[in-house]
Amino acid sequence: MRVDELELPTYDDLDAASDFHAALRELSEQSWIARGALGYAVFDHEAGNALLRDRRMAFPAIELLVLQGVTSGPIWDRNQNGLMGRSGEPHTRLRRMLAPAFTPRAAERLRPQLTALVEELWAPVQDQGRCEFVSTLAEPLPSRAIAALLDVPGDAPTLARWSVLLQEVFKMRLAEVGPQVEQAYAEVREYVVDLLERRRAHPGEDLASVLATAGEKITDDEAAILVSSVISGGTDTTTAQLAHGLRLFAEHPDQWQALREDPSLIDQAVEEVLRYEPITPFTARIAREDVELRDVTMPAGTVVFVCAATANRDPQVFEEPERFDITRDRGTSSVLTFGFGAHYCVGAYLARAEMVETFRYLAPRTPDLALDGEPVLGPTTGIYAVESLPLSW
Ligand code: HEM
Repeated sequence: MRVDELELPTYDDLDAASDFHAALRELSEQSWIARGALGYAVFDHEAGNALLRDRRMAFPAIELLVLQGVTSGPIWDRNQNGLMGRSGEPHTRLRRMLAPAFTPRAAERLRPQLTALVEELWAPVQDQGRCEFVSTLAEPLPSRAIAALLDVPGDAPTLARWSVLLQEVFKMRLAEVGPQVEQAYAEVREYVVDLLERRRAHPGEDLASVLATAGEKITDDEAAILVSSVISGGTDTTTAQLAHGLRLFAEHPDQWQALREDPSLIDQAVEEVLRYEPITPFTARIAREDVELRDVTMPAGTVVFVCAATANRDPQVFEEPERFDITRDRGTSSVLTFGFGAHYCVGAYLARAEMVETFRYLAPRTPDLALDGEPVLGPTTGIYAVESLPLSW
């Protein structure tokens, strides 16, 4: 049966629901697939995993621009040729160039710098016993981590400014801010060309050196595209995940206490935060040819959103999935928070390292961590941000 001929529940008003997860759970209990204004959503782990890994499913980068009225020009060219916009060998080629800068070993190398950054950001608030966590740590840390990755520590504020503009592509506001985004692209390109020239003369181990000395010839445009993908992919995402993490611990004091008592739980604590509150609740795909799943045909052109928020709480995969429990034995089950398949998040090791170093540093220093007012949460489409998180300890 074709997906457009099925009778399906709809899922467009999730942000209006008082409890986003409860609304999703109810939907996922009715059907494994639902219909929305922009496409379909699939809820369970098995279906989500299969679609993310299916090479016939691409990321709808171009369709996202068309929806915003952009059909040519620099933003079009840039996204068509960007990491998310490419598929097949042209995509693999770009990924290969980035890969050496994103191995577990590369994340390990950055670890002491990450700890020092957390320490520096936390120092002004430690003795106050309270802070607004997003502006204190969650927001500044990721752009400083990317500045460390590029070995340009002084340039973090510029990277943070660019990241806001580069992210606009996903926010359906290009009609308003298109010229500023084009300006940011031009600035990033000029900056990257200059940086790579310096690294060719004096290579180090940073991301710019990796690109400058890549065996395969990289064009200036490709280098700029890769660096801008890293800036835009690695900033708001990690900010949101760090903030949701601290929110979850403030709401579950027994779990923070468990981590304080047994610091060896740190990796499990990070995985549980990633499972319980994925800040990319939906990851998009578009069928480039007809794709069949469970006797349902998704004709070429069908847009599908894989719902990590429900897949990560799929009772077939995770025992007592609604319980936030850092001691849970997850076996080999993986979360869908970083996507899967060809576009699997390049920065997953770095993001985890930022979370590990933040939780590891804060747990022993913030006994009785609690919410110090209501957190302000952003919309759940795109990146599910925390706009403000007042904490006390
Ligand atoms: C907790 C933080 C993060 C989350 C939840 C996250 C999530 C994701 C997701 C869901 C995707 C799309 C995967 C897919 O479509 O299958 C993605 C792609 C990507 N992420 Fe992340 N990300 C995070 C942090 C980072 C960091 C720190 C960086 C870099 C420094 C980064 C760079 C990228 C890039 C470049 C892509 C595009 C990969 C491609 O198209 O091949 N991300 N991320």
